Amino acid sequence: MIDIHSHIIFDVDDGSKTLEQSIKYLEEIKKVGIKKVVCTPHIKNQNDEKLRKIDINYKILKEEANKRGIELYLGNEIMYSEKIITLLNNENIHTLNNTKYILVEFKRNENMDEESIITIFEKIIDAGYNPILAHPELYRHYRHIDFVEKLRAIGVIIQIDATSVLASSPFNIYIYTHKLLKNCLVDIVASDSHCTRKRNFKSLSKAYKKLKRKYGDYADIMFKENPEAVTKKSV
Ligand SMILES: [Fe+2]
Repeated sequence: MIDIHSHIIFDVDDGSKTLEQSIKYLEEIKKVGIKKVVCTPHIKNQNDEKLRKIDINYKILKEEANKRGIELYLGNEIMYSEKIITLLNNENIHTLNNTKYILVEFKRNENMDEESIITIFEKIIDAGYNPILAHPELYRHYRHIDFVEKLRAIGVIIQIDATSVLASSPFNIYIYTHKLLKNCLVDIVASDSHCTRKRNFKSLSKAYKKLKRKYGDYADIMFKENPEAVTKKSV
């Protein structure tokens, strides 16, 4: 499995707090059989100091990962705004492993006009980037199948969180997630691990087993083939 969304770099966002905590979760990654992990710290705007700290801590963690046979890549989870293209063109905010793929999130409780969201995504695509929308099931105002269909139609890639697939997630999120799956609207499942008891890498393995039983080959596309494709520079 390849995980394209994680908060395992220590002391840079609401994910892992310390190097020790990150190392503990590297061991978990190894145990559950994940081979490659993209580190995607939250980024809202241009913050050079934060970006420097991300780079430094990433290098430290990458060495630890190498020792354990895990490949770490760098990316960011970018807060959606009209300024995304400018931020990316500054080349400080990271695309996924230096590809043209970017991971984008919305504010959880914001209720923007869906048509204008689509327009901004179109501009991002026209600028040469391939946006991946992180966990659409978590935004209560946008839990509409037709909205996701429209996003996919213009080329937005849909990533859901592994925890949303599991019965332990809140009922409304669980139901909507399985509706997305049933309609084949999910491109990628990722851990969105925050290195906590609730959001970790084990959930990715649990979700894979559950969806492999239910959907067979479609599970391999969502957990292996598509995540692999978006971390490759040549795509
Ligand atoms: Fe995240």
